[in-house]
Amino acid sequence: MSKDKLVIFDTTLRDGEQSPGASMTQAEKVRIAKMLEKMRVDVIEAGFAIASPGDFEAVKAVANAVKNSTVCSLARAVDADIDRAAEALKGAASSRIHTFIATSPIHMKYKLRMEPDAVLERAIHAVKRARNNTADVEFSLEDGSRSDFEFMCRIIESVIDAGATTINIPDTVGYGEPAEYGAMFRRLIETIPNADKAIFSTHCHNDLGLAVANSLSAVMNGVRQVECTINGLGERAGNAALEEIVMAVRTRKDVFPVETGIQTEHIVPTSRLVSTITGFPVQPNKAIVGANAFAHESGIHQDGVLKHRETYEIMKAEDVGWNANRIVLGKHSGRAAVKARFEELGVSFENQDALNLAFARFKELADKKHEIFDEDLHTIVSSSSAKNIAEKYLLVDMEVCSKTGQKPSASITLQVDNKDVIAQAEGGGPVDAAYKAIESVAKSESDLQLYSVNAITQGTDSQGEVTVRLEKNGQIVNGIGSDTDIVVASVKAYLMALNLLESPSIKSHPQRDGV
Ligand code: KIV
Ligand code: ZN
Repeated sequence: MSKDKLVIFDTTLRDGEQSPGASMTQAEKVRIAKMLEKMRVDVIEAGFAIASPGDFEAVKAVANAVKNSTVCSLARAVDADIDRAAEALKGAASSRIHTFIATSPIHMKYKLRMEPDAVLERAIHAVKRARNNTADVEFSLEDGSRSDFEFMCRIIESVIDAGATTINIPDTVGYGEPAEYGAMFRRLIETIPNADKAIFSTHCHNDLGLAVANSLSAVMNGVRQVECTINGLGERAGNAALEEIVMAVRTRKDVFPVETGIQTEHIVPTSRLVSTITGFPVQPNKAIVGANAFAHESGIHQDGVLKHRETYEIMKAEDVGWNANRIVLGKHSGRAAVKARFEELGVSFENQDALNLAFARFKELADKKHEIFDEDLHTIVSSSSAKNIAEKYLLVDMEVCSKTGQKPSASITLQVDNKDVIAQAEGGGPVDAAYKAIESVAKSESDLQLYSVNAITQGTDSQGEVTVRLEKNGQIVNGIGSDTDIVVASVKAYLMALNLLESPSIKSHPQRDGV
């Protein structure tokens, strides 16, 4: 039976970035976009061009770097947004403008303060303006799953007539339920006279843990585009996870009438990259990309898998890229080999100094650790100096004492605004002591919201990657640190978070502004 194509629209760089603390630099966005392109994602939503000059430059950089996927920018249904999106996308081989306006009674009344007829007019105008710039225009009915059916029919028919080629009906607040959400699509597609002129799309948030189920139900009811993110990253409880959608469709070919073009062996490396860059760790029992997703702990399971793999495994670990982290380099590798491998990973260096710094870090790491994997290289370019964050606090030296029967203590030399300062403290453990010592100097009064440690690769000489999330006056930042010594990694992560708190304040999100 021939299958329909399911378009995979990745919004890690836009909706994913809206997770508190997950902001990415332009270079990091390009690295992720190159991985998504390699994975054969159909559409990459690179950002929200009007949100800030940084967002604009990032969309532009992704548009220029990606050749085989369509690059998209989000835009509210206002002229300035659409023009800015079009400008940012000029260099793209294939571009899409994604414009949206809220259509639910509650959003129109309280957020937009607009009557439905005015919303309809605005939507038509926005789609026409976008069509003047590109033939590929997506229109989203924000909070669609809570919108009135008749009104949705009117607006969708009109925007398709105006030139929209994709119609997205998001479950913005994660309220949808699979049977109801799927039935809504079937009814819309059967009712709207020109529905066959556009692709219908789903975009689900995970507030009730139903984002993937809702997306797949939509697919069973005629939807042919799924909007999703790597690791399910996204606002609040996140978006539908790309890896789960893709693997469900592929594993249950007998059920789903669609196929994707995704090269699944790039899934795990991309998941690792997104987690390293954003500082959002992947929980061990997360489907597909969690460390335990293919681990068979119980004796009965292990026995079954050894006798015949399919007894307990419905997918092959290697099909999604587990074990793909080949040893690439070691302490004898030269600068040219290191540079070439970085380039293969989508990392380019602005100048010779940046390459020299990365190479020095590589050598330092290779002295501590024999085998350097791709994941290790990613950590080298994810540290705060590599992210171009102004470094008020720098680690000069540290000594931590942890002995059974004694209170752990830390003595840390920091460079604060170019002056050396020594801080000492005791704590419940070595990390606690180190953080108390740093805090005695920084006096940040921030709230530690998350402290998490992950092994980057396997083996006891693996680097530990620590994420620290700090909150101060509503501003949330994620610091990441990696080292073969997890106390050192913890200190690096804490200092990076403190440096981020000192940086210019977080971006506003126009999606939440009342337009
Ligand atoms: O969740 C949402 O409604 C969105 C739209 C802008 C597509 O992110
Ligand atoms: Zn969303």
